[in-house]
Amino acid sequence: MTKPAEPMEQSARTEPIAFPRDRTCPYHPPTAYAPLRDARPLSRVTLFDGRVVWAVTGHAVARELLADPRLSSDRENEDFPAPAERFAGVRNRSVALLGVDDPRHNTQRRMLIPSFSVKRVAALRPRIQETVDRLLDAMEAQGPPAELVSAFALPVPSIVICALLGVPYADHDFFEEQSRRLLRGADARVSQAARGELDAYFHALIDRKREEPGDGLLDELIHQQLAAGAVDREELADLATILLVAGHETTANMISLGTFTLLQHPERLAELRPGPGGTDPSLMPAVVEELLRYLSIADGMLRLVKEDIEVAGSTLRAGEGVVFSTSLINRDEAAYEDPEELNWHRTTRHHLAFGFGIHQCLGQNLARAELEIALRSLFERLPRLRLAVPAEEIPFKPGDTIQGMLELPVTW
Ligand code: HEM
Repeated sequence: MTKPAEPMEQSARTEPIAFPRDRTCPYHPPTAYAPLRDARPLSRVTLFDGRVVWAVTGHAVARELLADPRLSSDRENEDFPAPAERFAGVRNRSVALLGVDDPRHNTQRRMLIPSFSVKRVAALRPRIQETVDRLLDAMEAQGPPAELVSAFALPVPSIVICALLGVPYADHDFFEEQSRRLLRGADARVSQAARGELDAYFHALIDRKREEPGDGLLDELIHQQLAAGAVDREELADLATILLVAGHETTANMISLGTFTLLQHPERLAELRPGPGGTDPSLMPAVVEELLRYLSIADGMLRLVKEDIEVAGSTLRAGEGVVFSTSLINRDEAAYEDPEELNWHRTTRHHLAFGFGIHQCLGQNLARAELEIALRSLFERLPRLRLAVPAEEIPFKPGDTIQGMLELPVTW
């Protein structure tokens, strides 16, 4: 299909800048996005392949559009926009939930909702705390110093999602490596190979579990949904892949980047360091919510326009791509007072760090619980925690993937 021509009204107004861009500071939107910020709520940007798409940067317009069924998430559509070459290469592979529209999306999501409810997650809290405590014990026994991503930020969500799904944590080196190659591989070939490895892994695991049932969510799905014909083996492997990848990559990045950001804001962090009565646990939900808004690690949700949409004085035409810059959306002055300030004492409600609409993050209750427990316990146990090297020397992730720290050397 030929790409639709660029609408005149917008192209005349602004020169499309390249998108996405690397952050200059790991917790701020890229400075290169200044023209987009100034032109809120809607701009035109150019993707890696030269394609010009819409960039949504205003909070109200983002909510309106993310709730609009005329925007599609169908990643198998050849016109679906890709933020980097390696993602264009995996377009012919199905992506469960995140990559499908209703009614299929709704069928898939309904199978999973009970496992991610507030109640189910509350029941998981003691197990999350136990995991966090065990990892901190090991870190204390071996350090200081420590590399926080590998010693803590990555294993916490990885162990938790494995237990929830019924995936053996002993395989974590394998699937963490494949997730890394899938999301940050050098090119399409690497990402495609990683996807193939994960498919093969889950097909084998599903077959094994059919013979020897365990007690995870994957086992439940095999013995209820697969047995009843509600999903096939292929679709179940796709579901397991998205749950496993989304379940550990995102939260791990929030823990590492959240810790880095708090260490760079000592006046704020002082409130979380244990005083005479210890850290005030009632503060943690607000801290986590504000960090989610401020860091907006999933910076660039994608959609394809299915039917023309009139919004904010422009027409989004069928066949055009749309990206949502959550880092700019979540710092819209029209939605938040002093949005550039990290401040958990003001209301952070309605941020879009977990998306909005039918694809809003399925794992958000779990992510919140993990972040609250991990960050509170880390600063409680290691009240003198600090960076082991100058902040400028610490590498962070490029702009075309989930944002976070590549490494985080700390001492205490
Ligand atoms: C702090 C950590 C997390 C962040 C910032 C985050 C962010 C997001 C965002 C922005 C979306 C929407 C994407 C879109 O509309 O295009 C999403 C969807 C999703 N997330 Fe998360 N996520 C996090 C943790 C988790 C966890 C722990 C899980 C556990 C399994 C998870 C599973 C999913 C799934 C399955 C979807 C797709 C939902 C659907 O399409 O219906 N996420 N997440």
